[in-house]
Amino acid sequence: MSTKNRILELLERQRGESISGEHLAGLLNISRNAVWKAVKELQKDGYNIVAVTNKGYCLSDENDIISVQGIKPFLSDKSQPYADKIQIYKSLESTNKTAKEMAVAGAEHGTVIISDRQTKGRGRYSRNFFSPAGGLYMSIILRPEVLHFENPTSVTAFAAVSVCEAIESISKKEPEIKWVNDIFIDGKKVCGILTEAVTDFESGGLEWVVLGIGINVYTRKEEFPIDLQATATSIYPDENMPGVRNKLSAEIINRILGFGTPPSEAEIFEKYKKRLMILGKKITVIQNQAEYKATATDVDSVGHLIVKKENGEIITLSSGEIRI
Ligand code: BTN
Repeated sequence: MSTKNRILELLERQRGESISGEHLAGLLNISRNAVWKAVKELQKDGYNIVAVTNKGYCLSDENDIISVQGIKPFLSDKSQPYADKIQIYKSLESTNKTAKEMAVAGAEHGTVIISDRQTKGRGRYSRNFFSPAGGLYMSIILRPEVLHFENPTSVTAFAAVSVCEAIESISKKEPEIKWVNDIFIDGKKVCGILTEAVTDFESGGLEWVVLGIGINVYTRKEEFPIDLQATATSIYPDENMPGVRNKLSAEIINRILGFGTPPSEAEIFEKYKKRLMILGKKITVIQNQAEYKATATDVDSVGHLIVKKENGEIITLSSGEIRI
């Protein structure tokens, strides 16, 4: 790790407090001048580090840059080994695109790509995913040798439950799931999940999965495109919570990568069902460009949605889209 990043890690661990140049130099076994140079570089990168006479350097509480060093203090013991596999960018076309290229090139299970913004964020059905600066756009490479589910839809359900729990752990919000993979707060979409996978032609088994998670963190209502303003929201549309995206990233990684024994699919769907916002409600099902009204009655053990049409017919949906 570079001196700059080692200094940042120490300052992040004591955010808002001063650490003397002498102390930092001693901890890293470098000169005070080297500390000063590293601090200057960090300030150039946009970190708000204040140098106070006789006290030392202090990373301001106002700092809101996503960084590996900012995420690391919030990683659980089991997630710590993944810190070295996190890559952070200011801007990418799409974190899923980068992660897929890396997966093809052999990147390991647990590689995490994060970007502050995306210029070509993608959603399901090749739709655009609005990805301005100030959100959290993350893709995680999963390899079946480490995380294996019998049923591929379990990965998305696992991610949806994990993101809900992570949002809950950093805010007072109560996230819910809209089948299949959208996360809602107060009736509006706050997060979308796009899972992409490649199957080995010979064995027919999964080679890798890229789990893409896009969360609106600070976007204000008027910043969303007009067509999204009535249906999209953010975790913090009206305030800035410096550092919260680092914590949120860590809370997601802790759940998706830092587990002891992988959760069972039954456990995942039990949690998934509890958070599903549509059970017992009237919905519109969109399938093969046709629409019909139905009541969502249940989700089965592999994540299929069971609906009752207005004529009483019961249908099991394995894929597709619904509108509330
Ligand atoms: C959807 O709502 O249809 C799914 C949206 C998924 C968006 C995330 S953001 C991170 C990752 N990179 C992408 O281009 N898409 C996913």
